Amino acid sequence: MSECPKSRHANKSKNDMVNLVDNVEQKEDLKFNRRAFLKSAVGASMALGLSTVPFSVRAMMGLTDDEEDRVEIIDLDQLPVGESHKFYYPTEKDQALLVHTVDGDLVAYNSECTHLMCPVFYQKEENKLLCPCHKGSYDVNSGQPIAGPPQRELPLIEIEVVNGKVYAVGRQFRHG
Ligand code: FES
Repeated sequence: MSECPKSRHANKSKNDMVNLVDNVEQKEDLKFNRRAFLKSAVGASMALGLSTVPFSVRAMMGLTDDEEDRVEIIDLDQLPVGESHKFYYPTEKDQALLVHTVDGDLVAYNSECTHLMCPVFYQKEENKLLCPCHKGSYDVNSGQPIAGPPQRELPLIEIEVVNGKVYAVGRQFRHG
C-alpha cells in the first residue's frame, strides 16, 4: 500500500523537528560540558597553585622540604670542647660537621668545601675549618670563607640541644 504524499510530508516535517530538537539539545550539552570542564580546570589549577605556596615560602627562606626532619646527632657529653663530630644531614649523602668550638659554642655545617667538594675539618689550634685540598679555610663561627679558593660559605645546619642530645633541625643556604 502506497503512502499518501500529504502524510509523507507530515512525517518529514516531524522528523525535521526531532532532528532540530536533538541538535539544540546536543549544542546545550556541549556548552554545559565545556563550562563544566573549564570550571574544573580552573579549580584544579587554583588548588595546585595554593598547594605550592608553603613550598615557595620555604624556598624563599632557603629551606627545602626534606630539611624539616629532625635528626639526632650525638650526646653532648660525647663531644668535648675543641672536638668535632662527622654526621650526615639532611640525607645520608650530605656530609656535615658538628663542632664544639674552643669558645664553647656548638656550630654545624655541611662539610663539603664549596670549592671542589673536599671534606673540611676543624682545626682547633686555629679555631677554623680547613680544607686540605687547596688550603681553603672558613670561619668556624659563620662558615664564611676566609682564605684560599672557596668563594661561598658552607651551608649552615641549625641545631638544638634537648635533654643533653644534639639534634639537626634545619639547613640554611645563605648565598643568593
Ligand atoms: S676543594 Fe677545598 S679549597 Fe679546593
